[in-house]
Amino acid sequence: MTLSITFGTGDSIPFHDHPGMTGVANCFVGRVSVESFDLVGPSEEPETYWLRRRGSSILRPGDTMTLTATANNIHQVKAIEPSQVIDVFTPPYNRTRVTGTRWYEIRKTPRASSSEDVVLARVK
Ligand SMILES: [Fe+2]
Repeated sequence: MTLSITFGTGDSIPFHDHPGMTGVANCFVGRVSVESFDLVGPSEEPETYWLRRRGSSILRPGDTMTLTATANNIHQVKAIEPSQVIDVFTPPYNRTRVTGTRWYEIRKTPRASSSEDVVLARVK
């Protein structure tokens, strides 16, 4: 499944996941920043999860970003300038994967017991 997404300056897609999916995002116009996390697991609070920060990058024309079911799967995209990105996903979206998509609110507070960059996120 291929999606073409057009962004205006400052447009963003908030933190979300692609359940069970592998994908490649290819920027072919403009510049977008991408910040990614991996799911660590549920926290003790309902509807909240621990996420491990994978990093952030700026995609320019010709740059790609990949995600798998377990790596970089949770991310947000912000357009630095008018941009276009093509996303290719496998398996393609179906009803289960659409309804299973989660939207996250990241809390910047790191997990005290971890030396890694693990943060708490609430599902919206
Ligand atoms: Fe995405």
